[in-house]
Order: sequence, then C-alpha cells, then structure tokens
Amino acid sequence: MSTLSGMETLILTAIILLLTASWRLYQKRKYYCSVTSKLPTFYGIPFFGVAYQVFDVNKLFRIISAGNDVLKTATACAWVATTPYVLTVDPEVVKRVTTSPEFLHKATDLYTHFHNGVLNGIIVSPVKKWKTNRKAISPFLAHSNIIDMFPAFNENANNVKNKLAGLAGVGEQDIFTIIKECVLQLSFLTVLGIKIEEGTEKHKEILRVFNALVDHMKLDLWFGSLGLVFLSRTPRYKRIIKYLCDPVRSLIKEKLSRKGESEAVNSLENNQQTVIDLAVKSMRQGIFSEKDVEIESFTMFAASFETSASAAYTCLVMLAMHPEIQERVFQEVRSVFPDGVTDVKYDDLQKLRYLDMFVSEALRLVPPITYTGRQTVRDTELCPGVILPKGTQVFVPIYELHRCKEIWGPDSGSFNPDNFLPENIAKRHPYSYMPFSKGSRNCIGFRYAEISLRITLFYAVRNFKFSTTSKYEDIVFVPNITLSYKIPPLLSIETRAN
Ligand code: HEM
Repeated sequence: MSTLSGMETLILTAIILLLTASWRLYQKRKYYCSVTSKLPTFYGIPFFGVAYQVFDVNKLFRIISAGNDVLKTATACAWVATTPYVLTVDPEVVKRVTTSPEFLHKATDLYTHFHNGVLNGIIVSPVKKWKTNRKAISPFLAHSNIIDMFPAFNENANNVKNKLAGLAGVGEQDIFTIIKECVLQLSFLTVLGIKIEEGTEKHKEILRVFNALVDHMKLDLWFGSLGLVFLSRTPRYKRIIKYLCDPVRSLIKEKLSRKGESEAVNSLENNQQTVIDLAVKSMRQGIFSEKDVEIESFTMFAASFETSASAAYTCLVMLAMHPEIQERVFQEVRSVFPDGVTDVKYDDLQKLRYLDMFVSEALRLVPPITYTGRQTVRDTELCPGVILPKGTQVFVPIYELHRCKEIWGPDSGSFNPDNFLPENIAKRHPYSYMPFSKGSRNCIGFRYAEISLRITLFYAVRNFKFSTTSKYEDIVFVPNITLSYKIPPLLSIETRAN
C-alpha cells in the first residue's frame, strides 16, 4: 500500500480544514438565521465577510454610510469575518437597545481594547459588577461634588486661555496639544487628586505615554477584531500601562496606610471627593478589591481625559470654521460676561442658550465616542418579529445616527446649531441624538463634561477670535478610540480688544 506524499498530505489537511471551517460557518449561519432572514444582511466573502472593506479605517464611515444608502434601512446585519453584527440607526430600536435590561451587557468584540488590565472598569464590566461599582463611584458625579469642582474647572479654563494667549498673532498653530496638556492636569486633579506641575518633564512625559496608550489601544481593537489581540500586547505596551498606573498605585498605597484615619479625609483642599477617595472607601467596606480601586480610578481618569480634550478641541475648530456662528456665540458670551470671564458660577451656565445649541451641534457632527455595542445574554426580541439569539452583538453607530438623512434632513452633514432650537428638538425622536449614550449605561460623567467644556469655551470665546484656512467640507475623520481628525486643523488666534 502506497503512503501519501508530503504534498498530498498538505492538500488533504487543507481540504479537511476547509470542510470543517465551512461546516462551522454553515452552523453559525443557521444559528443566526432568525436575524438574517428578517434583516437586510451583508454577507461579503465567506470567512472574511465585509472585513476587507473596513481595513482602511479612514474610509470606514463612508462605507457604513454607503451601506445605509444601499439598504435604505435603519437596521441591518453585516458579517465581519465569521461573526454577524446587527447595526441600527432606527431611534426606536436604539431606544430598546440602550434602555432595556436585556441589553445591558457590552459587546465582547467591540471592547477588546479595554480589556488591558487598567481600563476594564465600569465601561466594560459584566452587569452585576458594573451595577455595584457604578453605584460606589457615582458620588463623584453628584451635583454637590461637581459644584466643589468649579474652582478646578475655572483654573483649567484660565490655563487654556493663558496658553492660547501665548500663541496669539503668530499664524496657524496646533492647539490640540495645549488643550490636552490642560485637560490632563484637570483630570488628574479632579479624578485622582494628583496635582501635576505645569510644564514639568513629568507632565510632558505623562501626556506622551498616554498618547502611546491610545495608539496601542487602536492596534488592540484591530487585532482583536481578527482574534489576534496577543500581537499588540507587546512588552512596550506593558511598560506604558505600568508607567501610567504607578502614580495611581502609590496613591492607593498611601491612602491605605492611613489606617484609622477618618474615611472622609480627601486629597484636596476643599470638600471635593475624588474617585480614589470613594474607591478606597468602598474597599474598606469590602465592596472593592485593591485591583478594583486601581482599575475604576484609572478608567474614570482615561474616560474623562480623552473625551473632554477631544470635545473642547472640536468646539474651537467648529468656531474657527464658521465665523458667523462664532460671532453669535461671542456676542452671547459678552452679554453675560461684559467685563470678562474670571470666575464662572453654576448659575451662569443657564444663561447661554445659543452656546448650548452650538455645543450640541458640535457633539452631533463630531461625537468623541462613535459607538456603543451591546450583546444579548439570552434570546431577545430586538423589534417586532426579529429575535436575536443569545450572544448576538448589536452596534449603535452614534456617528452615523447623528448624520442620518431620514432624521436630520438632506443637509444632515452641514453644521447648523438651529438643529437644536426647541421646536426642532421637539420634532425629533429623543433617541436620534446621544453623544453621551442613553439609558442606565450612559456616560456617568456627562454633567462634568458639559460643565467643564462650557467653562473652557466661555474663557476662550470671550478672549479670542479663532480662524483657520482648513475647510469644514475637507475634514476626514478617523474612528480611533475617540473620533480623530486625519489631519487635525491648525487654528489662528487673535486677541479680542474687549
Ligand atoms: C465630551 C465628553 C464625553 C463624551 C462625549 C462621553 C461619551 C460617553 C459615551 C458615549 C459613553 C458610553 C460608552 C459605551 O456605551 O461604550 C460614555 C461612558 C462613560 N463615560 Fe463618558 N463621555 C465624556 C466625558 C466623560 C467624563 C468627563 C467622564 C468622567 C468624569 C466620563 C466617564 C465615563 C464612564 C466611566 C463611562 C462608562 C459608564 C458605564 O458604562 O456605566 N465620560 N461616555
């Protein structure tokens, strides 16, 4: 009896592997047929699905938009490699996904990059842990605690103002770095109670390392979607995480060493409670482990820093690109602060309606977080007639929802704060707009974000006029961890006379 040659063995093995993979894919397609038989579905190429189309992240948003236009539908299914994802921009379905208890679990694949040992706090925690931990740290975002943060918000805005003043009158400049430097200090102070001295080597280094972390998370996300996340977990990545966590770890150690001291002791001069204070308190009560303290503190810091910096930069870019709107915002700010902005109080925030509309429009067109993803833990109805089997991942593309022509009209891509006139808001489904997500897994920090952003804008708009040669129509967005600009626009700054 003749034995198989090397080549024949290889071919036979390849055939067996292909048949096994085909059988598995067939089983999977059968498992999800209650979805794919009801929803329009992109199958793409067997085993690759539509993955080949999303390799170029710069084109991702255009591809999803084109998909929506082709399907003419608001809820669809797309196979990426061998996994089907349900996508929806139908506000009624979005409401169901963001508010029903059946959809509280985060989608596994869409958050691989958060599972790096420091960011796997409440953003991605399984439901039971998420409920306990969110409750434990929620006093950080309570109204009275936010009021105690006003001095820090004002100091941060004044810091941004002083740094912008240094760039006035010298042509187009990178202002994103300035904003990041200031917001980094604000997040360290308010979330962790750590004061980083301005302009020190340490300050610059933390920013550099944090940017490197975000770059690595991008890799994580892309490798993760191919099931190859280990390829991005390099020794350098581990060093980055260690560097960023070390100050948090030492602070926790220091706090824990203060045995017997009152739990009310906090790291700041006023009564403001930091996330570390609250987390250590939960540890003393046996609710948190030491690792929980570290992870929740770091998660809150990262969630507040990256998003807030991105939103502040976008608002200044949008002002620079829309001079008439900027003038209207300026006139309103001047009418409330005729003698300049020195110390913004809570009540001042209620007086600037046009600025509110402007900010809402900026977060509509450039939402820092572009999606939320959920996963069913049992067979669950998505909408009448569509049952999602256990394990189905549902993706709400916030960026696309905010630009959907059926909701926002044919000019949905144009920058128009009037979209947020009360009469126009009343005409729309409330789940058409969700820069901070919706439901009980929404952004826990949205009040902090809204207030600190507004205070920064009051100081900036009152003191400077912004302009740019970059055009709004030419912006290309890249879906990084937060929404990024392929080429971040540079801005010119002119100091206002009064
Ligand atoms: C303009 C700024 C901000 C935007 C646009 C924003 C947006 C969002 C969005 C869309 C989510 C939901 C993410 C998801 O479903 O995967 C979220 C969650 C979260 N955000 Fe924010 N955020 C901002 C600022 C902040 C700030 C300042 C903090 C903290 C002080 C914060 C802390 C968090 C946390 C901890 C979560 C997870 C909440 C949970 O799952 O229970 N965010 N944010």
